[in-house]
Amino acid sequence: MKSNKIDVVLGLQWGDEGKGKVVDVLTPDYKIIARFQGGPNAGHSLVFDGDGFVLHTVPSGIFREGTVNVIGNGVVIDPVILMDEIHAIEQKAGDITGKLVISKRAHLILPTHRMLDAASEAAKGKSKIGSTLKGIGPTYMDKTGRNGLRIGDILSADFINKYEALKQKHFGLLSQYDFQFDITDYEKQWMLAVEEMKRFEFIESEVYVNKALDEGTPILAEGAQGSLLDIDFGTYPFVTSSNTMSAGVCTGLGVAPTRVGKVYGIFKAYCTRVGSGPFPTELFDEDGEKLRRIGHEYGATTGRPRRCGWLDLVALKYAVMMSGVSDLIMMKSDVLDGFDTIKVAVAYKEGDKILDSFPYDGGVNIEPVYKEFPGWKAPLSGLRRFEDFPQAFKGYIAFIEAETGCRISIVSVGPDRNATVVR
Ligand code: GDP
Ligand code: IMO
Ligand code: MG
Repeated sequence: MKSNKIDVVLGLQWGDEGKGKVVDVLTPDYKIIARFQGGPNAGHSLVFDGDGFVLHTVPSGIFREGTVNVIGNGVVIDPVILMDEIHAIEQKAGDITGKLVISKRAHLILPTHRMLDAASEAAKGKSKIGSTLKGIGPTYMDKTGRNGLRIGDILSADFINKYEALKQKHFGLLSQYDFQFDITDYEKQWMLAVEEMKRFEFIESEVYVNKALDEGTPILAEGAQGSLLDIDFGTYPFVTSSNTMSAGVCTGLGVAPTRVGKVYGIFKAYCTRVGSGPFPTELFDEDGEKLRRIGHEYGATTGRPRRCGWLDLVALKYAVMMSGVSDLIMMKSDVLDGFDTIKVAVAYKEGDKILDSFPYDGGVNIEPVYKEFPGWKAPLSGLRRFEDFPQAFKGYIAFIEAETGCRISIVSVGPDRNATVVR
């Protein structure tokens, strides 16, 4: 028995770090790519051959030959969004029926889960989470509340009865809100999509993944969202409803902690956040505008403008610690090309007190303490070798490595698959 381990790619900030691109770049080294949490709240962008794709539920290895893509038990699935996505992929890649398998234990997002998400957000008013409104929270609530419907239920004879029972329960909940809705059209699409999903194999993915590991098959787990959106350790309550850190791989795929290998932690050379909640280094000035403009910082799922700010090493170190990151990957370095001065938060100030660890409230009443770096003022996007990077950029990298105690083994300098420097 070979003792192969499962490697992991996960986001270290508030999501949108570039996980899709990195998974696509790393896929040739793996045979299986597996999503372990989240759902269609994710938007993972891939750029290659002059084409761009945004994946929401399907793992980002789908466009590479010779891979099987697994949607694990920890994921929540909206059949309509999944089938729309599959149709778009198949336009480019042909039939993917044999390349995608789905865990029987993954939970279904019902049309009424989406309505509950919307009703709950509307009722929260100003204190809303800024949810993607895909029904993520209500679906995970039904999972932990032991009411949920799973992919495996689709094959049971009384699926429709189970669906109706849960729907009626949701109607009861919805009646407590002042919220108008009509699911007639979406429900029809949903039922059709559920039927069409049956062309994919529904599996015990925990057995599949562990058997593949026993046989020495290289597997990469793909995270969604980011560490600071983790349900336990993120900026609660402004978080998503799953464990986005490396621990989520164990429960979201059914692999033991002893089987986790490399943990690739991805971060942007600056920070973004979409939705509400604390963001200590957020910029409200011209620099923030510039980051948004040059970095095209608009949500891949919702199109919302992303909030932008400087890199936050206090938060990054917290995320590295929580996931046991073995390798760092820095994304979107090219976006900083034109800045005269680049700032990095190295601590927080709360009144007279200096905080050097990430606070319980996510940093509501703090001021970041910045270290300044000279900009490199040269385009990085054409470079493909680490040696060719400008000295000032190498200095930025070295500082982050020294602070986090982690090597930056890949640097991304553009959205395309090829705009990647592996050290
Ligand atoms: P994910 O959710 O972590 O997969 O990230 P998103 O796809 O939501 O957002 C990342 C965005 O940055 C996408 O539009 C990518 O095409 C783009 N991107 C990824 N890497 C780079 C990079 O190194 N430079 C630039 N300029 N854009 C990048
Ligand atoms: P990827 O995988 C960025 C944010 C939402 C909101 C909060 C809760 O593309 O990095 P939810 O719909 O999960 O109930 O929303 O989490 N959020 C994301 N932000 N990238 C994502 O995914 C996100 N998924 C959820 O904006 O603030
Ligand atoms: Mg995204």
